[in-house]
Amino acid sequence: MVTAYDALTAGIIEGAGVPALLVGDSAAMVVHGHDSTIPITVDDLVPMVAAVVRGTSQALVVADLPFGSYQEGPAQALATAARFMKEAGAHAVKLEGGEAVLPQVEALANAGVPVIGHLGLTPQSVNVLGGYRVQGRGESGQRLLHDAKAMESAGATAVVLEVVPADLAAQVSEVLTIPTIGIGAGSATDAQVIVWQDLLGLTPDPAPRFVRRYANLRDIMSEAIGAWVGDVESREYPAPEHSYE
Ligand code: KIV
Repeated sequence: MVTAYDALTAGIIEGAGVPALLVGDSAAMVVHGHDSTIPITVDDLVPMVAAVVRGTSQALVVADLPFGSYQEGPAQALATAARFMKEAGAHAVKLEGGEAVLPQVEALANAGVPVIGHLGLTPQSVNVLGGYRVQGRGESGQRLLHDAKAMESAGATAVVLEVVPADLAAQVSEVLTIPTIGIGAGSATDAQVIVWQDLLGLTPDPAPRFVRRYANLRDIMSEAIGAWVGDVESREYPAPEHSYE
């Protein structure tokens, strides 16, 4: 699974063989420039989900339920999920949290909405977690395992495990029958998810420890744009073949 926020990028990611695309609330940071995921709204995300659906043909498109759009209870979660499915064409939704959101997971699953849980480092709770740090070390690992099992029992389709010890993620993956999707959770999870701007080197350094850069788009873009600026200044571009009679 890779994140996507627009049609063109989504099409490239799908074309490269990625079966599931997440329109993450990470858009708050990598698209809108906020320093957390908290400010993004449903109204911000709906058009992005719609664009990703339009830009793909086969992939499963998952809409992230943003902070404040599901915590009130099952009715609010269902209303938000319905907006993403009806207005944007999302195929599934994702929400953050353990025990506290089980009623929401159950209500969504009962309503026929594929719902993905998100445990470990849950960025919408960054102010409680005290920063973007590893979760589930020591005894809190048992709590995470308990939450993961409860998610499965409540009807979750899959669970994202973010920035947790690899051993714990392996244990959760072994115990659950639904797939685990890891990010900073080692290699034993059933699948992996990554923010595309991290994957392709568009976000600035330093990247989190779990990121391996597969390209350096920052350098590629800045060199290409610099070349264009130079050609425009020297009038080498536009050339006759770019001009009309
Ligand atoms: O919003 C997001 O991109 C996410 C992934 C990092 C799992 O939740």
